[in-house]
Amino acid sequence: MLQDGKLYIGTSRKPDDTNNKPEYLDLKFGNRHGLVTGATGTGKTVTLQILAEGFSNAGVPVFCADVKGDLSGIGAMGEPKDFLQKRADQIGLTPYEFQEFPVIFWDLYGEKGHRVRTTISEMGPLLLSRLMNATDAQEGVINIAFKIADQGGLPLLDLKDFQALLNYMGENASTLSNQFGFISKASVGSIQRELLILEQQGAVQFFGEPALKISDIMRTTNDGRGAISVLAADKLMMNPRLYGTFLLWMLSELFEVLPEVGDPDKPKLVFFFDEAHLLFKDAPKVLIERVEQVVRLIRSKGVGVYFVTQNPLDVPETVLAQLGNRVQHALRAYTPREQKAVKTAADTFRPNPDFNCAEVITNLGTGEALVSTLEGKGAPSMVERTLIRPPASRLGPVTEAERQAIMKVSPVAGLYDEDFDRESAYEILTARAKKAVDAAAAQQQADADQTSQQSSGGSRWTLPGFGDEEPAATSAPKQAKPRAGYQRETVAEAAMKSVARTVASSLGRALVRGILGSLRR
Ligand SMILES: Nc1ncnc2c1ncn2[C@@H]1O[C@H](COP(=O)(O)OP(=O)(O)OP(=O)(O)O)[C@@H](O)[C@H]1O
Ligand SMILES: [Mg+2]
Repeated sequence: MLQDGKLYIGTSRKPDDTNNKPEYLDLKFGNRHGLVTGATGTGKTVTLQILAEGFSNAGVPVFCADVKGDLSGIGAMGEPKDFLQKRADQIGLTPYEFQEFPVIFWDLYGEKGHRVRTTISEMGPLLLSRLMNATDAQEGVINIAFKIADQGGLPLLDLKDFQALLNYMGENASTLSNQFGFISKASVGSIQRELLILEQQGAVQFFGEPALKISDIMRTTNDGRGAISVLAADKLMMNPRLYGTFLLWMLSELFEVLPEVGDPDKPKLVFFFDEAHLLFKDAPKVLIERVEQVVRLIRSKGVGVYFVTQNPLDVPETVLAQLGNRVQHALRAYTPREQKAVKTAADTFRPNPDFNCAEVITNLGTGEALVSTLEGKGAPSMVERTLIRPPASRLGPVTEAERQAIMKVSPVAGLYDEDFDRESAYEILTARAKKAVDAAAAQQQADADQTSQQSSGGSRWTLPGFGDEEPAATSAPKQAKPRAGYQRETVAEAAMKSVARTVASSLGRALVRGILGSLRR
């Protein structure tokens, strides 16, 4: 049943309820994206769990969010339970073996995992506007703020930096308006108030350094399994915009950082987007268009994006059309919207003459789904009514003690736990400004040392191939150049200088931004 190059999802059923055949996700189409949908309690999270397990075993790193805390058990050995054994017997999964998976826990708040941060500069104007739910006028001002910062090589690390720049813009609105376009003082003020709200909601912890390195979510173990990064999202879900924007930022980073690989044998990374409706809900049209574009293009970087949501109508049609591998759990069909969802879901499958899709969708049992994956030259397989396999890891959460134990031996233990020390950062950066070339070389060396230290000598973990070059290639210019001469207290002065530089159209090292506004590397 376990085949090379394929991920076993479950076993499909004939109309008389006997076993039909095993259903697989072909790893070479793993980057052709996917969709897992179904009403609450129908088995979406377990499906996500067994897909993540399958990818990990195939050596594919996985990133997923743990929205309800019930996915963390993927880091623990499964435990025998009657109903799980029954399912295994039913689908012919014998022997049903348990396994624990190499998990890295992450948490924006640093409570249930390693800290995840990024800088304002790296997030960019589009996503920051989205995070703040900015009006058009506010977005205009945010764009100008980034123009000033980017063109002058002025790094915006945290919310304080951004506040300082806004202060400066407010105080010099009329002069700056001449150079950059109209800056409304009222909009500047309202953005500053929004920033305070964000700060109170805990976003202040998310912005700063050390920023997450994408190579750290692309690790594999020495025995060739892909790391499963699990983002604690229960608290984060209380701030749905931060959740949605954060995942978009991750996607955007992946897109900007990873090299083109065409269509690989298996994905380089699989990214699960749980509660995907939060991503699109009330999102401006331009953002949806950009997301659609990134999803389309990221495939050739070997990244598979899997949306998980209750209702297929939650995902815009242009995005939906790109999701090749589908697992549709049961839907209800009471309200007109629900009926429409059933129809949409049914219509997107390649029909099976044995049954009526729309009818079956409303009658599927828990942990049962309509499954269609890409096969052959990349065409969707005929839809099959499928019993999903039980997980090999634990169903349900890890205990606090287990979580701590996993974090302690994590390959990123200690790398992100402390905020970057400002004083020493400043000293380092000043030194770099003086001897930019030497310092960049030293940084390269330091990064190489760190990498080899992490990936050698009995460690259970290795970094991805690109990660060996990536830190040196990206962080040197990122830190050594634009951040050189940076001094928190004098953000306004620096802004002034950078404006002067820009105006004089001299050397201002403009940063280039990608589709979703992340920095181009
Ligand atoms: N493949 C499966 N094998 C065995 N049991 C399953 C399977 N899938 C689901 N179940 C059972 O159904 C329960 C609910 O599944 P799950 O938590 O995945 O639902 P969900 O769709 O994620 O719900 P929610 O929308 O509330 O998050 C599980 O706790 C488990 O008991
Ligand atoms: Mg769930």
